Amino acid sequence: MVDRNYVIDEMISAKQIAARVELLAREIKTHFHDTQQLVVVGLLRGSFIFIADLVRELDLPVEVDFLEASSYGNSTESSREVRILKDLRGEIAGRDVLLVEDIVDTGYTLSHVLAILRTREPARLEVCALLDKPSRREIDIKASWTGFEIPDEFVVGYGIDYAQRNRNLPFIGSVRFTG
Ligand code: IMP
Ligand code: MG
Repeated sequence: MVDRNYVIDEMISAKQIAARVELLAREIKTHFHDTQQLVVVGLLRGSFIFIADLVRELDLPVEVDFLEASSYGNSTESSREVRILKDLRGEIAGRDVLLVEDIVDTGYTLSHVLAILRTREPARLEVCALLDKPSRREIDIKASWTGFEIPDEFVVGYGIDYAQRNRNLPFIGSVRFTG
């Protein structure tokens, strides 16, 4: 439950996102051009809209799978403890994997999930993150491809939530508390 009032200021428009997703897909395709089949893994729930748009721009043989790691709950601060809540359905050993994340913030989620996936020995493992907040980083980690670098603001929309709300906004906006 959200107990504070807030407004949302548009930060990245739906049009800007679409243009960027198209370019990201082109770069990913170039990198994985020789793949037999790319397993695109969406980190639930924040990446669900991004992955849907990305795979439709990705002109490669793809499979889609999902992984859920524990999130911030209703807080806007990271707990720094990451657990797997829902694991992949498929095997990734010896396969090409693209992990799709909504936001890299402190870096704890990404580094933890990557460590788990690496133990399964995929052939190649790369990361595409829609957003990056480099100023918030506590662990030295970077996605292979990043959509947009953003300042230290709490954002919602295009799959990203505040206490499970606002995922359905077509744009990305920053949350401004008014009370
Ligand atoms: P990290 O472990 O601190 O890098 O946090 C990454 C996760 O925190 C992301 O996958 C998001 O789910 C969540 N997160 C980070 N920043 C925001 C934000 O501004 N809005 C909503 N969720 C966020
Ligand atoms: Mg997330």
